[in-house]
Amino acid sequence: MLTTATFTAPKQLADTLLALTETHPEITLDVGEIVPNSLPTYSSHFTYTLWLPAELQPAAVATAGQPLNFKEVDASIDYVAQTKALFPPLLIGPYFIARNNEATPAGKIGLCIAPNRAFGSGEHATTTGCLLGYEWLLSQGHTYKSCLDFGAGSGLLAIAAAKRQGTRGLCLDNDHPSVDICAENAALNGVADLITSEWADTPPAQAFPLIFANILLHPLLELATPLVQTLAPTPGSALILSGFTEEQGPELEARYRSLGLTKQWQHAQGGWLAQVWMRG
Ligand SMILES: C[S@@+](CC[C@H](N)C(=O)[O-])C[C@H]1O[C@@H](n2cnc3c(N)ncnc32)[C@H](O)[C@@H]1O
Repeated sequence: MLTTATFTAPKQLADTLLALTETHPEITLDVGEIVPNSLPTYSSHFTYTLWLPAELQPAAVATAGQPLNFKEVDASIDYVAQTKALFPPLLIGPYFIARNNEATPAGKIGLCIAPNRAFGSGEHATTTGCLLGYEWLLSQGHTYKSCLDFGAGSGLLAIAAAKRQGTRGLCLDNDHPSVDICAENAALNGVADLITSEWADTPPAQAFPLIFANILLHPLLELATPLVQTLAPTPGSALILSGFTEEQGPELEARYRSLGLTKQWQHAQGGWLAQVWMRG
């Protein structure tokens, strides 16, 4: 009998659960990127769904480290189709984000990003805000030869810039699986030659004219000085910040203003903010 259970747990559990599916190939794992309605902790928890034969339930419970509510799978239901329907393509500005390999409509820039272990399949308000902030910068006549995607997750933002204007991107993340997934996404989107994906937990020494940093409030505050130092001192250089809520906005803004930056643009969606900052 095939059974399924959905539960939430810290994102660190993903690696342990993936190891379980390697030991037991009969187990299928689906990792959702956000626990709905948990704004302050969204990036530290995932939603996990397991599909497994009933006899493997004890192994799953032991690995999950919590009781699981198993349900019998109804064989008459097409779960693959249902799961795909949960991830329809997204249209954000000029971007068509295909999460199930859908064909890109004429006139759109196709990004192929499957929902995955790495954050950033496009549906979160912060990712949308960063893409719209980048589009706003382009609408102001700025162009960027290179960018830093700090906290790249899936790499969607740097991949978007690579496809949009051939921008070379350095993607950094402190989550090892995300580093690999980002590189895979770059290849899948035909921009592997433009994207470098590496592990790091602090900004690099090299300066960039465009920086995306969609991380949480606290790392944005802690890393404000090195992030601003990483921003090239050239006209048009911009730091796109997101991952903080409207409530947290004033604290974030005071910090970046104190470092000599000025807020140029803002997008608010679902309680989340994305902002574009420039020198001066
Ligand atoms: C909200 S996700 C953003 C993903 C993608 N850039 C987007 O906009 O959809 C934040 C990412 O930042 C990474 N991260 C958080 N703190 C970090 C740090 N100090 N150094 C590097 N990466 C970090 C997380 O692992 C996660 O992949």
